[in-house]
Amino acid sequence: MDALVISNLRKEYGKQEAVKGISFSIPQGGFFGFLGPNGAGKTTTIKCIMGLLKFEGSIAVMGHDVVKEHTAVSRLIGFSSQEFDFDLFLSVEQTISYAAGFYGMKGKEVKKRTEELLQQFSLTEHRKKSIRALSGGMKRRLIIARGLVHRPKMLILDEPTAGVDVQLRRDLWEQLSALNKAGTTIILTTHYIEEAERLCDTIGIINKGKIIALDSKEKIMENLGSQTLHITTKEPVARGTLPDADCLVLYEGTKLTIKGKGIKKKAKGILSSLESKGIEVVEVDAKEESLESIFLRIVGEQQ
Ligand SMILES: Nc1ncnc2c1ncn2[C@@H]1O[C@H](COP(=O)(O)OP(=O)(O)OP(=O)(O)O)[C@@H](O)[C@H]1O
Ligand SMILES: [Mg+2]
Repeated sequence: MDALVISNLRKEYGKQEAVKGISFSIPQGGFFGFLGPNGAGKTTTIKCIMGLLKFEGSIAVMGHDVVKEHTAVSRLIGFSSQEFDFDLFLSVEQTISYAAGFYGMKGKEVKKRTEELLQQFSLTEHRKKSIRALSGGMKRRLIIARGLVHRPKMLILDEPTAGVDVQLRRDLWEQLSALNKAGTTIILTTHYIEEAERLCDTIGIINKGKIIALDSKEKIMENLGSQTLHITTKEPVARGTLPDADCLVLYEGTKLTIKGKGIKKKAKGILSSLESKGIEVVEVDAKEESLESIFLRIVGEQQ
């Protein structure tokens, strides 16, 4: 059973259609990067999953319909929203322990879980502070800690690293990877595409309310990205030595640059073709187009 199944999700705010009939699913244990420019529909989709908005279509979390079985679903999901939604009258530790109480934990269990999370998110020394007295990064840590209080099977993080310093971002990456390795399904939105490239196994790109790419990270890089092969030879190579089917070949003396889709797969053939012509290869270097560059290109094509 998939962790999440979204079928034909549509959401309108008045006359504006923010999500235009999207469908996708995420397997249990997956780490899904939900990417898209500002206003693409990411938060709207997430709010529908969380049952915070009315919508058309259907969403199931681990087989439970998010509308009809809202209570069951809310126990399965941990959520860290893009906007801070704290009770400003609570302290840091109260924020976590009240959330624990909300999920039915009692006494010692609440205390134990609160201590664990305060420590895990480096909030112990700030435990007595009121929310108002926290910096942006501390609030971000607290909202993620609160989302984890009931050890959810699925974690949804809407821009968890926005406004977070470099050190904390790296700590968070480690924590998220560990949670995912331990079996938690994670859905992450971020504007740091490099972060998604590093953490996620599957990438969905949404633009103007429609999914424009959805696949494993490897397939996206392979099918949508171009690769560049830099070859250095002993002797200069004459123009036209290589057949330039589906790729761009640049001849600059002893430097050959070959660019195109699927070049990495063709590398062997290219090298043996040079060898068969008696050309000695000194160095080979392959570079892959980054996810960020692919993202900018395919979103840009739709503007
Ligand atoms: N409460 C609302 N009322 C009216 N329109 C809204 C509301 N919330 C979002 N929208 C609109 O819906 C569209 C999608 O917004 P959404 O917040 O889902 O985007 P997003 O992908 O999360 O963007 P960001 O990266 O900026 O967080 C936008 O055009 C936005 O202006
Ligand atoms: Mg958003």
